[in-house]
Amino acid sequence: MSIPAVLQTARSCIRLPEPSDAVKLLRFRVDNRAHLAPWEPLRDDSYYTLEHCAQAIADGQEAARLDRGYPFAVFGADEEEILASVTLSNVVRGPFQACLLGYGIGAGQQGRGLMYEALEAGLAWAFGELGLHRVMANYLPRNERSARLLERLGFEREGYAREYLRIAGQWEDHVLTAKIRRDD
Ligand SMILES: CC(C)(COP(=O)(O)OP(=O)(O)OC[C@H]1O[C@@H](n2cnc3c(N)ncnc32)[C@H](O)[C@@H]1OP(=O)(O)O)[C@@H](O)C(=O)NCCC(=O)NCCS
Repeated sequence: MSIPAVLQTARSCIRLPEPSDAVKLLRFRVDNRAHLAPWEPLRDDSYYTLEHCAQAIADGQEAARLDRGYPFAVFGADEEEILASVTLSNVVRGPFQACLLGYGIGAGQQGRGLMYEALEAGLAWAFGELGLHRVMANYLPRNERSARLLERLGFEREGYAREYLRIAGQWEDHVLTAKIRRDD
C-alpha cells in the first residue's frame, strides 16, 4: 500500500505525521493530557516524551505501509500545529473490508465543527481510496459529544458491549456504531 496523500479541508490538512512532526505531536499530547485522559487508556509518563512520539510516528508509517492502520494527525492549514487526531486502525481486508475509527480534538478547538470536518474527509478517503465498506466507532455511553458527532456523520448504533475497553484504568461499557459505504 502506498503512503496516503494529504487530505485538505477548508480549515485543516490531514496526513500521517512524519519524523519532523515529533515536537508538534508531543505538544498536542502534553497540552491535552487532562482533556483526553478520561477517554483514553491510562498513559504512563513515557507517553509524554519526544522519544515516544518519534516511535509512534515511525510505527504509524509502518502500519500504513502494511495497510494495517492510518493514524492521521489533523494540522491547522499552515501545518504549524496539530489540532486533532483521526485514527483508522485494525484494518481488515477479505470479505470484511472494515476498520475502527478513533479521534480526539484539542480542548481549545472543540465546538467549531473542526472534528466533524476532519472526520468527514477521513471517512471519504476510507470509503474511497482505501476501498473500505464499514467503519466502526465505539464510545462511552456518557460521551455525549462523541455520540452527537457520530450521529451527524451518519453512524448507526449496532449494539452495546459490556466492559469493552479499559479506559482510564476501568473496564468500560461502550456503545457500538458503524457507518457503511453507500454508493448511491
Ligand atoms: C468528542 C469530540 C471529538 C467532539 O468535538 P466537537 O468539537 O464537539 O465536534 P464537532 O467538530 O462536531 O463540533 C460540533 C460543535 O461545534 C459547533 N460548531 C461551530 N461551528 C461549526 C461548524 N462550522 N460546523 C459544525 N459545527 C460547528 C456545533 O454547534 C457543535 O457545538 P455543540 O457541541 O456546543 O453543540 C471532542 O469533545 C473530544 O475530542 N473529546 C475528547 C476525546 C474523545 O471523546 N474522543 C472520542 C472517543 S469515542
